[in-house]
Amino acid sequence: MPVINYVEFDGTEHSVEVAEGITLMQGAMDNLIDGMVAECGGCCVCCTCHCMIDPRWTEVTGTAGTQEAELLGYLDTKEPTSRLACQVNVTAAMDGMVVRLPESQY
Ligand code: FES
Repeated sequence: MPVINYVEFDGTEHSVEVAEGITLMQGAMDNLIDGMVAECGGCCVCCTCHCMIDPRWTEVTGTAGTQEAELLGYLDTKEPTSRLACQVNVTAAMDGMVVRLPESQY
């Protein structure tokens, strides 16, 4: 399984195996990682699964879809590599990927 490195806002790192095909959000929830709220359960309506993809990995994750991009636009904490973690499906190519979580979700 690919290893995803989730980094909390204070620098605390969690390197966990996440099954291919599930989302970055679910991978964080399954591993009880702080900073992933996911109030809507992955329906792409709440923005509480905000994360920032390390710039070295954005080619692998692709870009946000229309609805996701619209929601991200409402966030004051949006960064150039921001994504909603419930909209990113984990693939083998993401092994080693670094994903930061915003302070606003603590
Ligand atoms: Fe609600 Fe991702 S979990 S938008």
